[in-house]
Amino acid sequence: MAPIDPHSFTESSHPLTTHVALSLYLDFNTSIIHGSALLSLSSAFSGNLSLDSRCISIDTILDPQTLERLPFSVSAEPDRIRGTEVVVVLSGQSSVLVVYSTSPSASALQWLSPLQTFSKTHPYVYTQCQAIHARSIFPCQDTPAARIRYDVVMNIPTSLSAVMSARHVRRRLPVPEEAKHLEAGSLGSSLWSAEDRVVEEFVMEQPIPPYLFAFAVGALGFREVGPRTRVYAESAAVEVLDAAALEFAGTEEMIKQGEKLFGDYEWERFDLLVLPPSFPYGGMENPRMVFLTPTVIKGDASGAQVVAHELAHSWTGNLITNINNEHFWLNEGFTTYAERRIVEVVQGADIATLNIGIGWKGLNDEMERFKDNLECTKLKNNQEGVDPDDVYSQVPYEKGFQFVFRIERQVGRTAFDDFLKKYIATFKFKSIDTDTFLEFLKANIPGIEKEINLQLWTEGVGIPEDAYEPVSNIYTKIISLAKEFKQGKMPSEDEVAEWSGQEWELYLENLPKTCEPSQITALDKRYRLAESKDYEVKVSFLQLAISSKCSEYHGEVEKTLKQVGRMKYLRPLFTALAQSGGNEEKQLAKQVFEEARETYHPIAQGVVESILSKYI
Ligand code: BES
Ligand code: ZN
Repeated sequence: MAPIDPHSFTESSHPLTTHVALSLYLDFNTSIIHGSALLSLSSAFSGNLSLDSRCISIDTILDPQTLERLPFSVSAEPDRIRGTEVVVVLSGQSSVLVVYSTSPSASALQWLSPLQTFSKTHPYVYTQCQAIHARSIFPCQDTPAARIRYDVVMNIPTSLSAVMSARHVRRRLPVPEEAKHLEAGSLGSSLWSAEDRVVEEFVMEQPIPPYLFAFAVGALGFREVGPRTRVYAESAAVEVLDAAALEFAGTEEMIKQGEKLFGDYEWERFDLLVLPPSFPYGGMENPRMVFLTPTVIKGDASGAQVVAHELAHSWTGNLITNINNEHFWLNEGFTTYAERRIVEVVQGADIATLNIGIGWKGLNDEMERFKDNLECTKLKNNQEGVDPDDVYSQVPYEKGFQFVFRIERQVGRTAFDDFLKKYIATFKFKSIDTDTFLEFLKANIPGIEKEINLQLWTEGVGIPEDAYEPVSNIYTKIISLAKEFKQGKMPSEDEVAEWSGQEWELYLENLPKTCEPSQITALDKRYRLAESKDYEVKVSFLQLAISSKCSEYHGEVEKTLKQVGRMKYLRPLFTALAQSGGNEEKQLAKQVFEEARETYHPIAQGVVESILSKYI
C-alpha cells in the first residue's frame, strides 16, 4: 500500500472514483453547505477506503444499495497539508453515500456578504479548488490521478443563480423527497423545499480531475460574446459586463486558432465568469467556464493574454493532466507554450516575444527566491510535506515553457506541431507523469535525447544553458533602457510613446530591486505609474517604491491591498513590506492584513499569513 500522490490519502491499491453525484444545500446565513456525495468506484472493494476531507463534518456514510450505515472513522488530528483522512470500511460495495456539512472556513470557498458584492444586496459564493481544496467542499479522492464525471443538484435562494464548470441542465422547484439523505444529517426537514428556494441541476459528462470542480452562486447576469461564449458577472455590475464583453470579443477567434494548433475543442462551451476583486488568481481554467479576476479588464484588450492561457489549458492541463502536483509543469509549462502560440497568431509575434521576455525575467527572479531551496527550481520536484500553495512560482510555467520551446527549436515548428497534436490525442482525458511524457517524446522524435539533455531539463536545478532569452527590437530596447536607469537616465516621452502595460511591466521588472528614492518619485511624477489602471504596472511600481523606501506611496499600497485579493499582487507587496528592514513597513503589513484579511479568499489568507510569519 502506497500513496499515489503526496497531497492525498488515496492509496495505490484502492479503486478510484469515476462518478460523483452531489446534492448541495447552500446556506448563506451560516456559510455552510449541507451535502450528500454519492461516490462510485471503478470496482467493488473490501477493506478500508481512504478519502480526503478538510474541515468537513460527516454525519453518516451509507451503502447506497441497502441504505445501511457503513462504519467509518476520521483522523483525530488533521494533517497540516492534506487535511483529515476519512476511512470507510467496505465489504464489496462499489459506491458510498456520504452525508456531510462543510465548515464556514472551507478553504475552497469564499462567502461574500451582500456588502462585499457589487450589488450590495445579494450574497455571493465561489470556489477555487486547485490544487487541493476540492476536499473542503465534498469528501473525495482529491488527486488528479482520479478522473470523475459528476452530477450536481444545488439548492439555492430563488433570488440567486448558479453557474458551474459543467453543463446546466435546468432550474426548477425543489422536491421534498430529494432531501431525505440530507435530512438524515443536519438539514431541517422543511428547508430544502421552502418557498424561497430553487434547484439548479448540472451534469459534467467529461471526466475531470477533482481540482477542476467549480461553481459560483450570486445575482449573475451575462452577455453573449460568441457562438460558444458568454461572459458572466454580477448583474448589477453593468459596466463590468459591458467592458468584459468588449475586452473578450476576440475569444471565438482564439478558440478557432487553438483548434487549428492543438485539435478539436472538446468541452463544447467556453464561457467566462468575471469574479469579484477578491478572486485569488488571474484566471482559473475551470472547464466550460473559466474564472477570471476583474483586474484583467483594462479596456485595452490585454486581458486576452489571460484568456489565451486559460483557453490553452483546455488542451494542456484539462485534457492531459499532471498525475500529481510534482508534475505540475506538464500543466503549466505546456499551457504557457500553447498560450504564446495563440497570442502569436492573434496579437502578433512582437507581443508573444515580449511575453517570453517578461517570463524570462520572472524565471530568473525565482532562481534568486529559491536559492536556498533548489528543489523548487526543478521541473519535476519532490513535494512530500510541501503545501502547493506555499511553493507556487513561475518555475513550472517559465522553465516548463523553456523546455517545450527548446524541443520546438530542435525539431522545427512543423514537426513539433505534429508531435503536439499527437501527444494531445494520445493522452486526452488521462493524467500522466513526466516519465510518460519523456517516453512518448523519445518514441516519437527518435534521437532527441542525444540533442537535448532531457534529464537535466526535468530533474536538474536552475536554468539550463540552452534556455532562450528572447531577442527582438522592442525587448532589447527596453532592457537597455532599464540598464540606463541605473546610471540615472529616465526614458524619454518619445521612447515610451508606444508603450502599453506589458512594455512598462518589462521595464519596471528589470530595474534594480532598490533605487534612489528621488529617482523613483521622479519616474512616477512623469509617468503616473502608481495610479496606473493596469495592476501589473501599478504593483511592479509600488513594489519598487517600497523596497526603495519611498514611504509616500504607503497610502497607495494600502489602498491596493484593500482593493484586490489576487495573490499575484498580494505576494510581492506583502513580501516587500515584510522583508524591508523598516519597522514602519512591517507595521503597515500587519495592520493592512488585519483590516483586509476577511475580504481575502481563504487560500490568499493562508499565503499572506505564511509570508508575514516568515519575516515578522
Ligand atoms: N491554473 C492556474 C491557476 C492556479 C495554479 C490555481 C495553481 C491554483 C493553483 C491558471 O491557469 C493560471 O496559471 N493563472 C495565471 C494566469 C496567467 C499565467 C496568464 C494567474 O492566475 O496569474
Ligand atoms: Zn495555468
